[in-house]
Amino acid sequence: MTALPNSIEARDKAFHLHSYTNAKRHLEVGPTVIERGEGIHVFDNQGNRYIEAMAGLWSVGLGFSEQRLVDAATRQMQKLPYYHNFTHRSHGPVIELADKLVNMAPVPMSKAFFTNSGSEAIDTAIKLIWYRANALGEPQRKKIIVRNRAYHGVTIASSALTSLPANHTSFDLIVPNVLRLTCPHYWREGQPGETEEQFATRLADELEQTILREGPETIAAFFGEPVQGAGGVVVPARGYWEKVQAILRKYDILLVADEVICGFGRTGNMFGSQTFDIQPDIMTLSKQMSSSYLPSSALLINDKVFEPIMAESDRIGTLGHGYTGGGHPVASAVALETIRIIEEENLVAHAAHVGERLRNGLKALEAHPLVGEVRGVGLIAAVELVTDKAAKKGLDAPGKLGGLANAQLQSAGVISRNMGDALAFCPPLIITESEVDDLLERFGRALNATLEALPAGTVK
Ligand SMILES: Cc1ncc(COP(=O)(O)O)c(C=O)c1O
Repeated sequence: MTALPNSIEARDKAFHLHSYTNAKRHLEVGPTVIERGEGIHVFDNQGNRYIEAMAGLWSVGLGFSEQRLVDAATRQMQKLPYYHNFTHRSHGPVIELADKLVNMAPVPMSKAFFTNSGSEAIDTAIKLIWYRANALGEPQRKKIIVRNRAYHGVTIASSALTSLPANHTSFDLIVPNVLRLTCPHYWREGQPGETEEQFATRLADELEQTILREGPETIAAFFGEPVQGAGGVVVPARGYWEKVQAILRKYDILLVADEVICGFGRTGNMFGSQTFDIQPDIMTLSKQMSSSYLPSSALLINDKVFEPIMAESDRIGTLGHGYTGGGHPVASAVALETIRIIEEENLVAHAAHVGERLRNGLKALEAHPLVGEVRGVGLIAAVELVTDKAAKKGLDAPGKLGGLANAQLQSAGVISRNMGDALAFCPPLIITESEVDDLLERFGRALNATLEALPAGTVK
């Protein structure tokens, strides 16, 4: 008989299959067990304190100890811990949240539909877009356009839109008709001699040529994150969204703005769509909407999307879609309180302000031998590490340099995440100026430690 595992780390290794983790390696290295949080910091069970520079998963906008969210959840738990919105039923928090979201949207929206995760919001958007096409008598209009390095989730349908290799390899993706275009990352994808403007024009041409090749009548929608997050914090090339939207309008193709990361202040405006002047037909929302204290997500649809769906549900007798937990009263109460706090405390303007300080501080490290590119907008940024600036390359295996630097950063008391060789910074919206400075100082130290640990001659 095997001995009962006793330490919490041993039990984690024994019983827990982790997300986005090498399952075999986990048996060797075990977990970092986070025990509690305070403001922008979390503490592990060894007593180490970390700046949570990713706000969890780009999501804990209000930090890890907002009592008002605890109180809002407690009040709602005591009053009505659960109800749903199937078959004409409703409840106060979901009604209030739908009203709030539709009315705060940066473009005219008609209805909010509630889900539990970003992936479910994206899946729902795909299903509603297909349902709408059938309602309009256009059953051939089913293809979806996305960009390389997109992240839209991991359910069967949303992972087909996600365009990162690890989300596809060995998973037998079964959703057909997903068209992938070039990632709008000028530094990585721009051709020699091409200006940023020319790059954006080339990508818009690629979009138009793809639409014409496939047949405009077969294209249902274009899905895009205003800033691509998990693909490495890709701030799109200047002029990109304007040119892309002109093409989508020309061929009457729906635009879905995946605001799961960008929404609720991250890019220095309430929505990423405002930062890049995007006019979406559908917006997907999650993460900072409830500061991730409880799972909550939603999509907003405009009249152009809603009206055919309404007619089709009437023809069939029901809209045959919905989740048990969608619009959960406790999660909705927490989301409402989160949005109230963001508005009352002016956290969007605050994020723009401290974000500028963070990005300027990172930019000042551009001369460091390991820094290839610093990019970002608002309070989201990434530093792409290289060992060869001219070739824009890291160590032999992609991601190795990023992994080494990320480990150094954790030793310096900062939790970041390396996406390939890019380290991301997406701290809670409440981060102060002095906390930004602390983060920058620790990052500078981690960069130097990474450099020192490389064999002589590695850096070109
Ligand atoms: C832009 C975007 N869309 C969708 C998702 C999927 O969200 P979830 O992990 O809640 O399913 C994510 C998650 O990181 C995301 O960043």
